[in-house]
Amino acid sequence: MDDIIKKRRSIRRFQDRPIAAETLADLFEAARYSPSWGNLQCWELVVVRVAEDKKKLASLLSEKNPAGKCTETAPILLGICGDPQKSGYYKGVQVTRYQHWFLYDLGIISQTLCLKAWEQGLGSVIIGSFDHKAAEEVLQVPSGLELVAIIALGYPDHDPPAPKRREVEEFVHYDRFPMP
Ligand SMILES: Cc1cc2nc3c(=O)[nH]c(=O)nc-3n(C[C@H](O)[C@H](O)[C@H](O)COP(=O)(O)O)c2cc1C
Repeated sequence: MDDIIKKRRSIRRFQDRPIAAETLADLFEAARYSPSWGNLQCWELVVVRVAEDKKKLASLLSEKNPAGKCTETAPILLGICGDPQKSGYYKGVQVTRYQHWFLYDLGIISQTLCLKAWEQGLGSVIIGSFDHKAAEEVLQVPSGLELVAIIALGYPDHDPPAPKRREVEEFVHYDRFPMP
């Protein structure tokens, strides 16, 4: 597990090799077990397979986005959608200071997908920076749901180094934050 967590990298170049239906089924089976607010499981995933649609989605990333090319060439894109009115709400009323707990749930399922994919020999990159509204139109996301991220998925065709991480001492604070 430690190995999978530490070795997983964002992959932005994929082999021209399809992902078997059984592999995808195993991936989604694992994703089912992601934790979520009140176990409400507010997520909906769109599996994008059609080349034309991938091309349209790729055109919605800014030119500077390093995932632009792989959005077009990945064998599969996953549209990570969710219902913004479930997590953090009780009978339609917001119950904490945060309105957008669904983003948290979608982050968790995204991490499950990326780690399980890595275990399966698949690479992935989470893409959050694109024209969300136009992408929702491409994927025909129903009203009441929001498309938050796209995950490009495929067999890795490069082995990038890990970007630098903060040291543990920098972000773990025992008992309380130190006095300023
Ligand atoms: C919420 C989120 C949004 C991201 N959006 C993008 C993106 O739009 N384009 C991209 O190339 N990478 C994107 N990434 C990938 C990060 O750049 C990457 O995870 C980070 O640099 C650490 O590298 P690693 O995943 O290889 O450890 C995103 C990651 C997260 C978690």
